[in-house]
Amino acid sequence: MTTHPSGDIRFASLDQTLAHYNHEPTALIQVLHAAQHLFGYLSADVLRYVATALKMPLSQVYGVVTFYHLFTMVPRGKHQILVCTGTSCHVHGSKTILERLEQQLGIKEGETTKDNLFSLNCARCIGACALAPAIAIGDDVYGKLSPDKIPRLCQKDLKKYV
Ligand code: FES
Repeated sequence: MTTHPSGDIRFASLDQTLAHYNHEPTALIQVLHAAQHLFGYLSADVLRYVATALKMPLSQVYGVVTFYHLFTMVPRGKHQILVCTGTSCHVHGSKTILERLEQQLGIKEGETTKDNLFSLNCARCIGACALAPAIAIGDDVYGKLSPDKIPRLCQKDLKKYV
């Protein structure tokens, strides 16, 4: 039984998480993680719900969500493409890799393709520094990339995620 007027049962799961943490404001990050997992992104409605449940100012909740890169307030695509912009990848040309991906996908960083399949984002390090420059698509890592490999990657490799 959810306490949300929409009757959306995902709020019932969120209620369980809130109860698990005794509605402690210190559990804000964990609660937001759970909410993003349940809803796919953090809508204004969800943020209001969390702020009320934790008895926190909405502005504080927004502050945390906008500070941490891993939270998103816009719906993400089915698959995340993460371009590593960590030091190693940066010196090996991650900026050009990102630009080529933006060109090929027709979206900018932070956006999602029209078919809702892919979102394009940056990350500080994806743990594959030896393969710099590298990107991750879901759990798969593609390394030792160069700008001229990107069209083929988009035309061929991305198909397996469709
Ligand atoms: S810096 Fe890119 S994987 Fe570590």
